[in-house]
Amino acid sequence: MSKDIITITNNRDNKSYEFPILDASVGPSVVDISTFYKETGMFTYDEGYTSTASCQSKITYIDGGAGKLMYRGYDIAYLAKEKTFLDTAYLLLHDDLPSAEQLKAYEGEITKRSFVNEGIKKLFDSFPDQAHPMAILSAGVSALSTFYFDHLEIDDKDEYQEMSNRIVAKIPTLAAFSYRYSNGLPIIYPDMNKGFTENFLNMLRAYPHSYVDLKPIEIKALDTIFTLHADHEQNASTTAVRNLASTMAHPYAAIAAGIGALWGRSHGGANESVIRQLEMIGTVDRVDEFIAKAKDKNDSFRLMGFGHRVYKNFDPRATVLKEIRNELMTELGISSELVAVAEKIEKIALSDEYFIKRGLYPNIDFYSGLILQALKIPKEMFAVIFVIGRTPGWIAQWSELSKQKTVKIARPRQLYTGPTERTPEY
Ligand code: SDX
Repeated sequence: MSKDIITITNNRDNKSYEFPILDASVGPSVVDISTFYKETGMFTYDEGYTSTASCQSKITYIDGGAGKLMYRGYDIAYLAKEKTFLDTAYLLLHDDLPSAEQLKAYEGEITKRSFVNEGIKKLFDSFPDQAHPMAILSAGVSALSTFYFDHLEIDDKDEYQEMSNRIVAKIPTLAAFSYRYSNGLPIIYPDMNKGFTENFLNMLRAYPHSYVDLKPIEIKALDTIFTLHADHEQNASTTAVRNLASTMAHPYAAIAAGIGALWGRSHGGANESVIRQLEMIGTVDRVDEFIAKAKDKNDSFRLMGFGHRVYKNFDPRATVLKEIRNELMTELGISSELVAVAEKIEKIALSDEYFIKRGLYPNIDFYSGLILQALKIPKEMFAVIFVIGRTPGWIAQWSELSKQKTVKIARPRQLYTGPTERTPEY
């Protein structure tokens, strides 16, 4: 038993109970309540886990008050500005940043696995035009498990390595194919001579036997977006992935579950919703009307791209993206009414008591949507971009749980408020 404890007294019977405090390496300690039901006969209740840790993890740390985010101890601004997405993927999956040689070898491993089994095309052919790319991508990832069905020996380092490289490498190809199929366009295969992010942009934009001009700033902007999305503690989609890991489900099934959770408008679908909302507002003279709606308790309207469960200060990823947005707009000569509307929303919200009191600041999605639009990536692909970035984080979280000495299946309890037993009428 830890020397430090929390004592809880039940004033119904004046009984007291002690629960150990476990300390973090940095950030809030936790109270271990795993014996709470056994000792008190009651459950704890915390809808949405607002104050509840679901696991121990060494991967990512967020200080929501300070607006800080670290992947395995490295600050996100350093990784976004000084490293590539594959550097960051390697860091998440191998506990440390790669040397130049390790990075070169990793890039080669990923490039050579970027093709998908041709059988996937038969599946994609069956989808209707305009099918949402997230739906196609989710089906594609699940379908991968039909080609690689051997159950993973998680303790076999090589097998685990092969699985994680395959998924990191094939998701962008499946993502690009999802877009091409959704729009009835000829698919473009990966180019073994292109880097990870350049390859993806090329598969989105190129046409057979044609050259597409990809500007270095476009590749760097998208690569940075992938890095900023790579992991984020126990968010909703990562929690879904971990839940499947706790049942020993196949990693491809776990990633498909993460895709499903991320598609939600309150989570990974927010970047698409931000652009749709900015388009709906349309002009700067209508911003005040929608700020008032966002503040109106009787109106369900919310400002997409604002607020966060953890960040009650600036989202550090938003800070990096704001710089990239401005750089990209200047370099590509883009000035749009949407940017003017977004800037007016941000200016008002950052000085309005309603938003300040609730710690509602622009989050990553408020800026990523405008950057993706500047990169000519269609709105319905925004959440897909999020999936490509988040995949190394999901795999790292899945394997961290799967490699635990004891894995407890995720099985929350509930506060039952339904009918007591009813006598059936025969
Ligand atoms: C992501 O978890 C992660 O880490 C996610 C993510 C990741 O990288 O994985 O960071 C990615 O999902 C970012 C968030 C993207 N979603 C959006 O931008 C959608 C808009 N935001 C909201 O839906 C909301 O802010 C959430 C869902 C993000 C957070 O919700 P919380 O923490 O559960 O907060 P809440 O719903 O309890 O709201 C607290 C108060 C309420 O007002 P009161 O009842 O106290 O008067 O703030 C208000 C809410 O009405 N509020 C908003 C608001 N968000 C919260 N009011 C207006 N506009 C908003 N956007």
